[in-house]
Amino acid sequence: MSGRIPREFIDELLVRVDIVDLIDSHVPLKKTGNNFVARCPFHAEKTPSFSVNRKKQFFHCFGCGASGNAISFLMDFSHLDFIEAVEDLAGFVGVDIPRISSEYKPEQKNEDLNSLYLLMEQVTGFYVSQLRTSDAGKLAVEYLKNRGVSSACADDFMIGYAPDEWRVLATRFNPKALLDAGLLISKDGGQPYDRFRGRIMFPIRDKRSRIVGFGGRVLDDSLPKYLNSPETPLFHKGKEVYGLFELLEKNSKPSRILIVEGYMDVIALAQFGIHYAVAALGTAASQAHLDLLFRFSSELVFCFDGDKAGREAAWRAMEPAFSSLKDGRQIRVMLLPQNHDPDSLVREEGIDGFIGRVQSSETLSEFFFAHCSSALNLSEMEGRAQLIIKAKPYLEKLPESVFKEMMFSRLKELSGWDYLDVLENTATLATKQTSKQKYADNKNRAPNTGRLSSARMAIALLVQNPWLGEMLDQQEIVWDELDFPGVSLFKNVQNMIADKNPATTASLVECYRDSSEEKSIKALALLDSLIPDDGVEAEFFDAISRLVIQSRERSLSMLLNKEKNEGLTSQEKQLLLKILTVK
Ligand code: GTP
Ligand code: MN
Repeated sequence: MSGRIPREFIDELLVRVDIVDLIDSHVPLKKTGNNFVARCPFHAEKTPSFSVNRKKQFFHCFGCGASGNAISFLMDFSHLDFIEAVEDLAGFVGVDIPRISSEYKPEQKNEDLNSLYLLMEQVTGFYVSQLRTSDAGKLAVEYLKNRGVSSACADDFMIGYAPDEWRVLATRFNPKALLDAGLLISKDGGQPYDRFRGRIMFPIRDKRSRIVGFGGRVLDDSLPKYLNSPETPLFHKGKEVYGLFELLEKNSKPSRILIVEGYMDVIALAQFGIHYAVAALGTAASQAHLDLLFRFSSELVFCFDGDKAGREAAWRAMEPAFSSLKDGRQIRVMLLPQNHDPDSLVREEGIDGFIGRVQSSETLSEFFFAHCSSALNLSEMEGRAQLIIKAKPYLEKLPESVFKEMMFSRLKELSGWDYLDVLENTATLATKQTSKQKYADNKNRAPNTGRLSSARMAIALLVQNPWLGEMLDQQEIVWDELDFPGVSLFKNVQNMIADKNPATTASLVECYRDSSEEKSIKALALLDSLIPDDGVEAEFFDAISRLVIQSRERSLSMLLNKEKNEGLTSQEKQLLLKILTVK
C-alpha cells in the first residue's frame, strides 16, 4: 500500500524463502526425485504435472505452462499484484518490509488511510439509509424501480442516495477527512460543500471489499449525468473497475468477464444473473484494468454500443488489449445493436438472448482484421500495403506468443507479403531455430549435449546456475569476437549476474520481471539440459569453447570470402591475421 519496496529486499526475500515450503503450504507437494510435484493449481488435471524445483527455486507446470518463482506463484495463486505478493511473502517469511519512504507524504500513512476507508464505509451507510428511509429518498427509490432495479440488487451493490443539499456530509463527518476522501469541494476559501447532491450513489469497492470511491447519477436529464469521485489517496480511476468486488463475491474464478460501459449496465446484468460484468469508470479500459481482470479470468469480452462512437471506442481499446495478451489469455469484442446498451438489451432479449450474443461475439483477431481492412480494397496492391501499415504496429505490441505468430501469419495471408520478419527475436530463441542455424548447430554439436545447441546450452546453463557467471569473469574470453545466435542475450545475462549477484535462478528471473527478455529467460530456466550437477561446469565451458571456435570459423570464412571478392581494409587484415595466429 505505501512506499516503494527496495530491490535488495526483494532479492533477499527470494533467498530467505524456500519455494517448496511456500507452495506446500498452499498445495500439498510430494517428493519425487529432485522435484516436488502436485496436481496443478492453475488448471484442472487428474495426474500431477506441476513440479517445484528446490535448487532453481522455481515452479513449472508441464500441462498448462505456468511457471515462475515464489512471487509469481503468489501473484497467480492468490490473484495478487506484485506489491501484494511481496507483502504476503514477507509475512510468510516473518519479516517486515522496509520502504523507500522519501516519495511518501506523511499524510498518507497507513493509519490515515484506514480512517479514510472507515469514513467511506460510514458515508455509504448514510447514503443507503437516506435512500431507504428519508422522504427525499422516495423519489430515488421510485427512479430505481422505474429502471427495473430490484431491492435485492440495490442491496448487493449498496446503492444509496445523496440528498439534494449543500452541507449534509459536512455537518455529520470530519471535514478534513471528507476533503481527503474527495467528498467535499472547497473553492477559493469559501465554505466547503458536498460534492454529491441529489444523486443516486454507487459505491465503488476494490477487490478487498474496501469502498474507495463513488459514482453518482442524477434522477433526471440534468447534466452532468454522472459524477465520479476525484483521484484521492484511496481512488485511482485508471486502476479500479466498478463491480469487481461484487463479481468476486459470486465467483472468484469466472470463466469470462464482460467489460461494459456503465454502472447501470453492471447492475442490470447482475440482476439478470450475469454476475461477471464490470465497468471501467467512464474511461477507456486501460492496460492496468485489463491486467487486473486477467488475474481472475482468462477471457475478457469488451461490450460496446453498435454505433460509430462504439466502434471507435472498441478500436481505441485495441492498444491496451494487444499489450496485455499473453498466451492463454483471450479477448472478444461484442458490438451491440444500434441504440442499445447491455442494460436495455438484457431487459429486451433476456438472459439467454444476451448470453447467446456473448458466445457468438467476434474474437479479437476477427474484429481487428475486419476493422483494419474495412475501408481498403485488398485486391489492389495499395490496399494490401495500407493493411500492413495499419496492422503491423499493433501486432508488434503483442507479447511473444503463439498468438502473435498466428496474427502475423494471418497478416501475411491477407496482404500476400512474405517478408514480415517476426521470428528475428530472442524470445523465440529457446524454442526455435532457422534451418540454417540447425544445420550449423548439428555440425558443431558435441556428442554428449543431448538436443541443445551450444548457444542454448551455454545460456541455459548460465541462467540455471548463476554462479557460473563469476567463473566466466575469470576466463580470458575476447567477447568482441563472439558471434552466435543469442549472443546479446548471453551478454545481457552475464552483465545482470555481475550486477545483481543473484543467488538462484529464481532471483535471476526476478531481475527480468516485466522486461522484454523475461519470456526468453523463463524458457531458458526451464530447459532440461540433461546435465548432472557435477558435470555442469565442464559442460558450460565446453559449450563456450565451441562457441568461440564457431565464431572464429565464421569470421574467418567471411574475411576470406571478402578478400577474394573485394579485398580487405587494413583493420580487417589485422583481424584476419589475429584469427589465423591464435591457437
Ligand atoms: P444510464 O443508463 O443513462 O444511467 O447511463 P449508462 O450507465 O448507460 O451510461 P452511459 O452509456 O451514458 O455512460 C457510460 C458511463 O460513462 C457511465 O456509467 C459513467 O461512468 C460515464 N458517464 C456518462 N455520462 C457521464 C458524465 O456526464 N460525466 C462523467 N464523469 N461520466 C459519465
Ligand atoms: Mn444505460
